[in-house]
Amino acid sequence: MKKNSWIIKPRKGLRGIFTVPGDKSISHRSLFFGSLANGMTEITGFLAGEDCLRTLEAFRGLGVEISHDGDRLTIQGKGLFGLKEPVNVLDMGNSGTSTRLFCGLLAGQKFYSVLSGDKYLNNRPMKRVTAPLGKMGARILGREQGNLAPLAIAGQPLKAIVHHSKIASAQVKTSLTLAAIHASGNTVITEPQKSRDHTERMLSCLGYPIKQVNDLEIEVPGHAEMSAAPIDIPGDISSAAFFVVAALITPDSEIAIQNVGLNPTRTGIIEVLRDMGAKIKIENIQEINSEPRATLIVKSSRLKGIEIGGGMIPRLIDEIPILAIAAAVAEGVTIIKDAQELRVKESDRITAVVSQLRKLGVDATETGDGMTIQGRERLMSGKINSFGDHRIAMAFAVAALNADREVEIMDIDCVKTSFPAFYSTLSSL
Ligand code: S3P
Repeated sequence: MKKNSWIIKPRKGLRGIFTVPGDKSISHRSLFFGSLANGMTEITGFLAGEDCLRTLEAFRGLGVEISHDGDRLTIQGKGLFGLKEPVNVLDMGNSGTSTRLFCGLLAGQKFYSVLSGDKYLNNRPMKRVTAPLGKMGARILGREQGNLAPLAIAGQPLKAIVHHSKIASAQVKTSLTLAAIHASGNTVITEPQKSRDHTERMLSCLGYPIKQVNDLEIEVPGHAEMSAAPIDIPGDISSAAFFVVAALITPDSEIAIQNVGLNPTRTGIIEVLRDMGAKIKIENIQEINSEPRATLIVKSSRLKGIEIGGGMIPRLIDEIPILAIAAAVAEGVTIIKDAQELRVKESDRITAVVSQLRKLGVDATETGDGMTIQGRERLMSGKINSFGDHRIAMAFAVAALNADREVEIMDIDCVKTSFPAFYSTLSSL
């Protein structure tokens, strides 16, 4: 049997010019909007990781013809009301994005469907979408009054609402947008801080009349049309971030990562690392499908601790595990607050990061909404539990480069969800 762990030895001098796989958020959205568009959508740069493949298979189950070859997809769009009732449960695997987005899409169909996933997914909160969808007229049943999958969705005609979301969540915003597209009237969605806006950008590129009213408010008219157009997906900054930090904390390193997506709602990690003293250069900036992308050139740097919170958090929410590794070898203290959302990601990332950093000798403490990390010169060796969470596994693989002896990372199969080739990319450097 293949061993489900990595043993990683400390290193010096990472070098390489490379790309990372396509952006996960944009890959999911390309499947949703390609399936709903009129005409054939050609997608390049698709992330063929487990999460996005769950979305792909679910659309096949809904009667959409999709051909898939590596990072290329061709989707025969069905238009807004062309999906078919699935004969089986739609398997969401570990993917929170798939589940929440499908809730919004399926709520307004003329058929019945069921969403279910793995043991981690079926314990993540879904009320954040099922409650506002209920206000639009959706009928979604699940354990804990519709909070936990399996979720049974009896499609209904939906009506537009005004929804003031209490959390800055692009999954909530996109789920409601998908429902709004199938509802009569104009839906208004506001959020307390701006979350990633890939949905808004992609819909505009496909000609759908979604309106960004201001930074925190969008308006989505129902029943308009979208027309297929080619979609090229940039590399995922969330995947690139592991290598950015790897190069920063490994002595004598210099790497270049090409074609990294630099949507401003996602670049918090670059700004914060630069504030910590990171040498990161951005070159060859281009924009395709309204999504900017560029080459990141990163050199080993001496980092210092930092305090972050507020509107910065949604701009680097998925990068906090790897930011914590940078903080663990930085000079001084790092304080992360306002990040309570981390408790409901693929694992409770506050507990996961702090408990595993402590194993490596770091003085780290949990707070309700974040953590405090006292940096140290070198990490100790240890055996790390990934909690079945891809970003915890990859963050600690990077930490291992800076330990005094080898570190073992357990339960690493989960890396398939977003970055199947992570280990081989790291080895190639
Ligand atoms: C995502 C939004 C974020 C992020 C997740 C992907 C998306 O979640 O953490 O990995 O594609 O919309 P929230 O919207 O729940 O913050």
